[in-house]
Amino acid sequence: MKALVLSGGKGTRLKPLTNTTAKQLLPVANKPILHYVIEQITEANIKDIGIIISLETGQSIKEAIGNGAKWNARVTYILQPEPLGLAHAVKTAQDFLGASPFLMFLGDNLIQGGVTSFVTEFNITKPDALVLLKEVPDPRLFGVAELDKSGKVIHMVEKPKQPKSNLALVGIYLFTPQIHEAIAKIKPSWRGELEITDAMQQLLDKGKTVRSHILQGWWLDTGKKDDLLEANRVVLDDLLKRDIRGEANSNSQVVGRVEVREGTKIENSTIRGPVSIAESCHIKDSFIGPFTSIAAGTTVQNSCIDHSVILENCSIRNIERLSDSIIGRNSEVTRQEDSIKSARLFIGDDARVEL
Ligand code: DAU
Repeated sequence: MKALVLSGGKGTRLKPLTNTTAKQLLPVANKPILHYVIEQITEANIKDIGIIISLETGQSIKEAIGNGAKWNARVTYILQPEPLGLAHAVKTAQDFLGASPFLMFLGDNLIQGGVTSFVTEFNITKPDALVLLKEVPDPRLFGVAELDKSGKVIHMVEKPKQPKSNLALVGIYLFTPQIHEAIAKIKPSWRGELEITDAMQQLLDKGKTVRSHILQGWWLDTGKKDDLLEANRVVLDDLLKRDIRGEANSNSQVVGRVEVREGTKIENSTIRGPVSIAESCHIKDSFIGPFTSIAAGTTVQNSCIDHSVILENCSIRNIERLSDSIIGRNSEVTRQEDSIKSARLFIGDDARVEL
């Protein structure tokens, strides 16, 4: 079995951060989303991975993943010159995929517990395709599946105005090579894309079996459904383990599930988990509270931060309370004496904010 990861396309929803970063590389708990995706694929023992990239962000994806050796995998990059749809991406990857069955994983999606059990289910039950579904409050934003009473998929449609169920298609699919014939028969949708849902509907129309599995655990979709703060909260809550590699002086307290990576110094501060602090940070006279991730090279001084994501090389000084905030790379947030006491910010890279 091979895997195809879709990391092309254009990210607009997470602007301003995706002006400078591919959405698949945004960090959740100090790790790019795409790293979790590759981890989950290789955990399922799939080592031959094709990654769809775009002209705009392809180079940064290549730099972040390399040749896959870090995961004991072999990565092949496949350029999709324009984001003409998920089925178009599969078509572009046809030489790589050959006659192999494959796992398709959207590079901005992540699910609790990984994909091993679905791959096993697919190998044992041998349907023509297997999709993951999740109940969502607003299915109009997604591909939607309609099931019959026995749970068999009977109809699939992309972003319907009047959904027939609340079961959204999660961006993780398993296909046999049958999907290529189905893709060859479909036409672009109203939004000008070759939709993978239309290709799967084509399979259904031809009497093929599309099996479904309703996901019980969490599903993150940072491209559409969840913002970065929510993804950070969920992953810190579920996956973070205590691991202290940096130094905390004797006047500091590091409580609960806290990760402090190499080269980070904590002085006269309290860190209350779940918190992840990456390499070479300096935290001084501060409180870092639950559900916060601080990326490498950041300095926090005389400040109190919780439920926030701070990217690389920032400087945060004299902020009495910074909550529910996202701070882009190389940004500086400071306070003049006696001004604002608490702040909630969402700022892109290279910003300077004085409160
Ligand atoms: O996230 C789940 C949803 O993903 C499903 O419910 C939908 O059925 C499915 O069509 C898809 O929705 P979107 O069309 O809104 O996906 P989006 O355009 O955000 O693309 C998903 C990922 O695939 C993203 O990482 C970018 C990449 N991509 C997208 C397109 C359109 C490509 O690599 N090439 C493309 O041509």
